[in-house]
Parts: sequence; structure tokens; C-alpha cells
Amino acid sequence: MKKTIRDFDLKNKKVIIRVDFNVPMKDGKITDDNRIRASLMTINYALANQAKVILMSHLGRIKTEEDKKDKSLKPVAVRLSELLNINVKFIDETRGDKLNKAVNSLNAGEVLLMENTRFEDLNNKAESNCDASLAKYWASLGEIFINDAFGTIHRKHASNVGISKILPSGIGFLVEKEVNNLKPIIQRPKRPLTMIMGGAKIGDKIKLIENLVKKADYLLIGGGMAFTFLKSEGYNIGSSIVDNDYLDFCSNILKEYADKIILPVDVVVAKSLDAKRTRVCDITEIKEDEIGFDIGPNTINIFKSYIDKSKTIFINGTMGVTENENFKKGTYEIAKYLEGRNTIIGGGDTAGAIINFGFKNYTHISTGGGASLELLEGKRLPGLIAIKNK
Ligand code: 3PG
Repeated sequence: MKKTIRDFDLKNKKVIIRVDFNVPMKDGKITDDNRIRASLMTINYALANQAKVILMSHLGRIKTEEDKKDKSLKPVAVRLSELLNINVKFIDETRGDKLNKAVNSLNAGEVLLMENTRFEDLNNKAESNCDASLAKYWASLGEIFINDAFGTIHRKHASNVGISKILPSGIGFLVEKEVNNLKPIIQRPKRPLTMIMGGAKIGDKIKLIENLVKKADYLLIGGGMAFTFLKSEGYNIGSSIVDNDYLDFCSNILKEYADKIILPVDVVVAKSLDAKRTRVCDITEIKEDEIGFDIGPNTINIFKSYIDKSKTIFINGTMGVTENENFKKGTYEIAKYLEGRNTIIGGGDTAGAIINFGFKNYTHISTGGGASLELLEGKRLPGLIAIKNK
């Protein structure tokens, strides 16, 4: 059993809480605040126990100075202030005098949010490469470290693994709940176990499929990644998203697990995401200049028939582009059909889309996409390994 926030006396201590505030934003506005809400229990517990709370999080991926422009955590501080009903001090730097002073002048029961930890990635990927001197500096800001960033628990970063090697550390309530809910699914799932995969993060997930397909009874593939599979089978996918590096991989896995992997038989296509004209077509009828943006009605029905015979369902990734009215039906229909069943929703984007539809009656809704998949695969998670047992 890992140490948790309950195992520490937080009173008057500077407590660093690593949260995952990697929330979707459009034009500087947060479009889904579920990840912020999911952190409230731990933050409120720390405040109720008179801690001086220092929050750290990443937001997006920072590769250039330009990337920083729309990746500040400032809007998150504003939203968090509303949710906590107290003022959250936002410090627009990741190191330096202003941050040091703000941390040292924090009173018990106050909260400070530091700027996006990945701004440090412009400095030789210091955050993402778990740079020891950066971790040492960040650790020097606090006295206790709590990792509650489940979405990032599969990463070995300075702001999670780095700090927890230095400070007395534990996990927060969100990480505890996620791990407790997800582990039994793979260790002793009620079968048949069906995994539904989708989304556009193709490169990130395709390899995971290799492991998951061994554990699942059925693997239903929708979303952007389906087109790499379809192309590997020789279908003309028009101008749909594809990851050509994985064609051989897809072709091999489809041969090996022909009885388990189910691909779309029809799709919703258009010439562009904002095109007014869309059409539903069989996967044999996609034209050169058309792009597939959602699964079609026959595919929805086939997926539902597999859901009917399953006792556990895990879904990671959306079936189409849910932000667009024309291409959200696949995800909507599947999400609606899954309500009330033994279903685990994995992933920030998937969870966000489904919650935004207004559905919530599932066994567990995870805040971590990649993290929940790696946990289900049976991989050891660096953020968790770094926390000592009781
Ligand atoms: C996520 O959104 O899955 C987590 O916040 C991790 O983000 P990352 O994939 O950029 O590391």
C-alpha cells in the first residue's frame, strides 16, 4: 500500500501537490474543467488540514517559445479560485525570486499555482527528462510532496518522480481512487472484456493495442486510428488521418487476432472538418478527397452488438470528432449505450466528451488517457513506483 496524503501531518507545512490540469482550452477559455474538479478533494483536504498548498501542473506540450503563448495556467488559476471559493495566487514563472517569495509568504490554508511545469522543457527538456537539478529546486519549495496527477502518472518527470525522490511523498485521493478502480479490471475482469479504442493520438496508442488485444476478448477500433488499420487491409481511405509507420504493425496484428479485432464497416466523410456537406459511406467507397471523421450507423450497430455480449467494457478515445456537430454521433451513441453497464471510461478527451454529452452513469470515469491504458496493460507506472509503501 502506497503512502497517501492521510499519512502526513500537513499543519503549517508547505505541501507541493502535483495535479494534472492539462485541460482543453479554446481561445484562452477552458472547455472542460473535469480534471480541475477531480483534484478538489485532495486540495480541500490539504486546506482543511491547514497546509500551505503549492500546486504544480503541466499544460500541453512545449517545444518552442511560441507554444508558451496559449499554454499558461493562468485561466486554470481563475477557474480553480471559483471552484474552491478562495483566491488562488498565480505565479507566472517556474523558478526565480517571485516564486520563492510567494511560496515563503504563503499562510496555512492558502493556495498558490505555479506556471506550467513544461515551460522548463525549453531548457533542455528539463521537466520531461526529469532533470535532477530542476527537481531539487522544485523540491526546495516544499516540505511534503503529494502526487495527485493520475493523468501524468505514466511519465517520469521532474515535477512528479523527481520531487518524490527528494521529499517525503504520498499519493492524493484521485490517484488512489483511479488505481483502486482500474486495477481489478485487468487483474480479474468479468468476461467477456471488450476494449473500445479510438481518438487521434495514433502513434501513442497503436503499440499499446498489441498488449491490450491479448487481454481483451474483443477490441473495437474507431476514431482516427481506425484508418491506419483499414489502409493496412488495402482499403482506400481517401485523405483520412493515417500513420504510415504502423501499417505493417496493423496488418500483422489484424492477421493474428482476426477473431478479436472489429473495424468500422462504414464512416461519415467530408472534404474538410468545416465542410457543410457530409455523407455516410461504406469503407469501400471513400473518395480520394474525402476524410473520415466519424463511424457510420452500421458500425455503431455492430459495436452495440459486441457491447451487448460483454460484461466489462473499457473505452479509450472518441469514435469521431466530437467537437463538431456533424461528427459526434458515433461517440454519442456508443456512450449512451454504455450507460448503466460495467463500463470504464479512460482518458481525458474521451471522458470530457462523454461528460459534456451529459452521461455519467458508468462504473468509473478516469482522468488519465495514456495513464489508464498503461495501468491496464500491466505496466509499472513511474509516478507510482516513486512513492514509498507505508
Ligand atoms: C494526458 O492528457 O494524457 C496527460 O495530461 C499527459 O499528457 P502528455 O501525454 O502530454 O504527457
